[in-house]
Amino acid sequence: MRIDVVTIFPELFPGPLGVGVLGRAREGGVIDLAVWDLRAYATDRHRSVDDAPYGGGAGMVMKVEPFVRAMEAVRAAHPVTQPVVLLPSPQGAVFTQARARAYASAGRLVLLCGRYEGVDDRVAPLVGAEEVSIGDYVLTGGELAAMVIIEAVVRLRPGVVGDDASVAGDSFAAGLLDFPQYTRPVEFHGLAVPDVLLSGHHEAIRRWRKREALRRTLDRRPDLLDDAALDDEARALLAELRRAAAEHRRA
Ligand code: ADE
Repeated sequence: MRIDVVTIFPELFPGPLGVGVLGRAREGGVIDLAVWDLRAYATDRHRSVDDAPYGGGAGMVMKVEPFVRAMEAVRAAHPVTQPVVLLPSPQGAVFTQARARAYASAGRLVLLCGRYEGVDDRVAPLVGAEEVSIGDYVLTGGELAAMVIIEAVVRLRPGVVGDDASVAGDSFAAGLLDFPQYTRPVEFHGLAVPDVLLSGHHEAIRRWRKREALRRTLDRRPDLLDDAALDDEARALLAELRRAAAEHRRA
């Protein structure tokens, strides 16, 4: 997978993408990360990439021409594969695991990082970019958001995370939160590992994990249950959990 990042801070990359699982993916050639300096595509001799907003107001707006010229260079560097182009922005559609899966199936991804108060609104339509937000809060720039998106996407590529079962069982893979995990020691500061996990009874463990994943999702993120893919067993477990919760409230 080829990933291009356009930024006024190329020195921020690879940063966290250079270590661990992602670092190995780069070394092993599973991903090819190229970083482009937006300033190199500025059109004036001061290399300006931002200007005052039309209509007035505080702050600066990132100019359209450098992004469009940079994007021409990015496309020309690999003219064969049509990239998915992303513009991280708090105004975008929220980035989810489903989006991560969709982007992971693309051969090529381009991320355009904005800074300051915003990016000229003509950039996205002119370069064919989708705006994506990593959550309802505001960062100073798109670079950290781009890293978050790249990290979530690349780990879904085959062979990046050693154990494919580990990716398949992630939170959100089935639209639910993860069940709780424990390792040694069996008791610490008065907190014990649930007995069922020590029982060696695989069927009981499987069912317990499914119930706990549902319990956590119901407690912490009930909104996820609307879209989760639940089989008959999960629906029955969930009904049980809801009944127990209702009884608990009455007591
Ligand atoms: N740039 C600034 N804030 C952002 C956010 N929440 N998501 C994506 N890009 C951003």
